[in-house]
Amino acid sequence: MTELLLERNSDMDRERIDHSRAPILDGITDYLHRGIVPFSTPGHKLGVGADAELREVLGEAVLRADIPLGGGVGDTHFSGEALRAAEALAADAWNADRSFFLLNGSSAGNHAFLLAAVGPGDKVIVSRDLHKSLLVALILTGAEPVYLSPRLHPELNVGLGITADQVAAALDRHPDAKLVALVSPSYCGVPSDLAAIAAIAHARGVTVHVDEAWGPHFPFHPALPPSAMTSGVDGAVTSMHKVLGSLTQAAILNVRAGLVDPDRVRTTVGMAQTTSPSALILASIDAARRQMALHGRDLLDRTVALAADARRRLQAIPGIAVLDAEELGIAEFDLTKLVVDVDALGITGYEAEQALRYRFGVGPEMSDLVGLVFLITIGDTPESVDRLVDAFATLSREHSRGGGRRAELRSSGTVIAPGRQAMTPREAFFAQAKATPLAAANGEVSAELVIPYPPGIPVLAPGEIITDDKIAYLREGAAHGMYLSGPADPTLATIRVVA
Ligand SMILES: Cc1ncc(COP(=O)(O)O)c(C=O)c1O
Repeated sequence: MTELLLERNSDMDRERIDHSRAPILDGITDYLHRGIVPFSTPGHKLGVGADAELREVLGEAVLRADIPLGGGVGDTHFSGEALRAAEALAADAWNADRSFFLLNGSSAGNHAFLLAAVGPGDKVIVSRDLHKSLLVALILTGAEPVYLSPRLHPELNVGLGITADQVAAALDRHPDAKLVALVSPSYCGVPSDLAAIAAIAHARGVTVHVDEAWGPHFPFHPALPPSAMTSGVDGAVTSMHKVLGSLTQAAILNVRAGLVDPDRVRTTVGMAQTTSPSALILASIDAARRQMALHGRDLLDRTVALAADARRRLQAIPGIAVLDAEELGIAEFDLTKLVVDVDALGITGYEAEQALRYRFGVGPEMSDLVGLVFLITIGDTPESVDRLVDAFATLSREHSRGGGRRAELRSSGTVIAPGRQAMTPREAFFAQAKATPLAAANGEVSAELVIPYPPGIPVLAPGEIITDDKIAYLREGAAHGMYLSGPADPTLATIRVVA
C-alpha cells in the first residue's frame, strides 16, 4: 500500500502550497466525522477492542484517530492524495524537490537513501561518527566505507565535524567513490560545512547525503546552522520527533533531483518501511510542518532564548561546564543542545543522571562517562529550565570537593577513531563468527556492531580490527552501566569476531 501512496510531489502540488493546510490531520478529522464503521485494520476498531488500561493511558481520542491511511485518511480508496499533498508541503518547508514521510525515524531514511544511491562494492566516503542506521545501510547495500574521522577539539575532545578539505582529499584518494555520507550536526550539535562539501563533491559528480537527524529545526531560525538542503546536498534525513512537535518515530527524507533519482528513492522508502503506515505518526509530521512553517521563527526565538539562559546559568554553577561555540572555536552551533560536563564534580555522567532522574525528577537525553546532554525545544518553558538549573545547583553543592579524575575518559576520541578495515561491514556481518573474550580480542576482526546507546555511534563496526583502546573504553563503559546495542552478549564478556 505504501508504494501506491508514496507518489511524486507534483508541480501541481507545488502550485497549491498553503502551509495553513494539514492534509493528513484533516483527513483523520473527516473520517471521524463520516462515522464509518470499520471492517478493516487496525483490529482495535477505533479503540473499542483495546485493553482497558491502554484506553485509559492513551485516551479514547488517540485510539479513535488510529485509522488506516489507505481507505481511512481523506478518501475511501488508495490514491494517496493526502500523503502526497502533505509531502509536497514538507518539501517546500525543507527546501527539497521531494520529501518522503518516514514512520521508522531517520533510520529508515538512511537505509532508503543508501539503497537508492549505492550498491555492492561501491565506495562511500563516510564520517566515522556515523549512527547505527548508516552502518546498517552499509551492511544492507554491501557498500565499502572509507571512514573519515571528524577533527577533535584538542582539549575538549569533542568532534568538530568533517571539513571540505578532508572530503576533497578522500575523493582524490578514491576518485571512484559514489557517495559522501555525513552526520551533521553531530550528536553534540556541531555542523560540518555542508555547502563547501557539496560543492566539492558535485564538481566531481559525487552525490552527498546528510544524516541531519538532529537538525529538523534548522531551516526555521537564522541563529541555527544552515540546513542540509539549503546547503545544496542531494539527500538529507531529519528526525521530526527528536526536537520538533511530532510523535516518536516521525521523520522526513528530503531529496534534490539530479544526482539521485527521486522515483528510485520513493521505491526504496517503500522497501525500508512498514506497509501499514500509522496515520497518527504521519499526521504528526504534517502538523509539525504546519506549525514550523507558520510559527517556527517565533517558537524558536523563544527556544533559543531559553537555551541561552539555561547555558549561562549552568555555566555559572561551580563544577559544571556547558559547551558553546566560542569554547569550541566554531562559528555555527546548535544552541538548543546543552552538552554538560560534570567531570569537575568528580562524578560520572551516569551518576549525575541517576541523581537528576530519581531525586530531582529531571530526565536528560543521554549521559556518558563525563557528562550529559539536554535538549531545549519548543516544548520547554522558563519553569522547566529553572528545574534543570536548580537540580544542577544542588548537585554541585553536594559534590563541592570536585575531582576532575575522569577527564581522560571522554568518549568521543576513542569512539570515532576509524579502526583498520579488514573487510566490508557486509562481509564481516555475514562471515563465520565465533565468540571470544573481549579482553583477548585485540587484533581480531569484529563481526558485530557494538554501539553505546545513546548516542548510537558504533565503537566497533563489523569488519574493523579490534584494538586495545576500544576494548578498554568498552570495558570501562560497561562497568559504569553504559547501555550497549548490538552485541550478542550484552554483558560484553565476549564479543563475536570473524572466525
Ligand atoms: C545521528 C543520528 N542519525 C540517525 C538517528 C536515528 O534516528 P531515529 O531514531 O529517528 O531513527 C539517530 C538517533 O539517535 C542519530 O543520532
